[in-house]
Amino acid sequence: MPSTVPIRPFSRRLNAIEISSTSDTVNTVAQLRNSGVDVVDLGPGEPHFPTPDHIKQAAIEAIHSNKTKYTAVPGTAKLREAIVERHHLDFGSNYDMDEVIACPGGKYALFMVMQILIEEGDEVVIPTPSWVSFKDMVRFAGGQCVFVDTTPNDFVLIPEMVERALTDRTKVIILNFPNNPSGALIDASSLKRITEIAAFRKIWVVADECYAYLTFVGKPLSVAQLTRHASNIVVVGSLSKTYAMTGWRLGYALGPAPLISAMQTVQSQEISCPCSVTQMAGIAALTGPQGCIESMRQGYVQLRDQAMIGLKDLPGIRTVAADGAFFLFPDVSGQLRFLNLQTAREFSTLLLRRCGVVVVPGEGFGSPTHVRVAYSVSNRELARGIAKLREFCLANQR
Ligand SMILES: Cc1ncc(COP(=O)(O)O)c(C=O)c1O
Repeated sequence: MPSTVPIRPFSRRLNAIEISSTSDTVNTVAQLRNSGVDVVDLGPGEPHFPTPDHIKQAAIEAIHSNKTKYTAVPGTAKLREAIVERHHLDFGSNYDMDEVIACPGGKYALFMVMQILIEEGDEVVIPTPSWVSFKDMVRFAGGQCVFVDTTPNDFVLIPEMVERALTDRTKVIILNFPNNPSGALIDASSLKRITEIAAFRKIWVVADECYAYLTFVGKPLSVAQLTRHASNIVVVGSLSKTYAMTGWRLGYALGPAPLISAMQTVQSQEISCPCSVTQMAGIAALTGPQGCIESMRQGYVQLRDQAMIGLKDLPGIRTVAADGAFFLFPDVSGQLRFLNLQTAREFSTLLLRRCGVVVVPGEGFGSPTHVRVAYSVSNRELARGIAKLREFCLANQR
């Protein structure tokens, strides 16, 4: 006789989080395409460029030479040297080998950092709009998110906004520039000021610099070049966007040795090491020719301009120009009014149903009146998507 007693429930921790809205969008697009629907996908958070050939070749060679076994937990010494050296060359940092760990993606590095730093009830300051995963990572670790809304300031974060959000319970400040979803940058003096405030208050700064190389004005900026070995700063980087390697899963953290050592402990229990073949590809990416980054960057600048022109003067839509990453984050509140809708999620669903255009609703980023438009698609696909979006918005005008 089967027991009628219900099976014991999942952990309560799980209730604190939800599926990433960007991953959810990826699933929806796959389902629609499988059922033959023509969609223009302006949802993805990844480069449309292929991984450069020399990187792919290194992975093929790695397989043929049997580099297919576990490696050291933080990645091979060669890979970690390559990460440290690349960061030194590009940002003038000076990390030692016990201050670097390679991880299967920047996301995984960030997840570990949150698990290590956050205790139940700790406050974590997150400027919004913010990447969908920060809040869930914080909550899964038991932390409380304290959001600092940059929207009224056209997504520009100023140090006083952060300072006002700090309390005795603040443990971490998360910074992400260029920002996903707004594409906003931060200037060096504001960044430095925030790190000074954090150092004075003994608060950690987690700098997610996954889009650092996709900076369209001035040079890429890392907090490491302003702070020199501060004991409260961790930099998280990724090869995903820089080298068009999202599927390979390779990122890293640079920070104080005790934190990196703690990350090794967690990584050793969770995944043992990043994929060995990916690590060889990563070495080729970091030590090989860097011209691919610049040509992709120029491609994004041109696509950004194309998207900005397309979104200009649309009724009910206001778009702030973005100087980094590959996203725009238009305010669609005028369209919500025209359509008598409450939220960006409803807007995105209607846009998809009527026109087959995918954008990511802003709720997950902390902005229910905005949608994220990724322009990391071909010129042709962007033109098609923008034309449909324009048609949709003009038809709703009242
Ligand atoms: C802001 C931000 N940080 C981190 C990541 C993680 O990238 P990955 O895990 O591919 O290195 C992403 C990916 O979309 C991102 O947008």
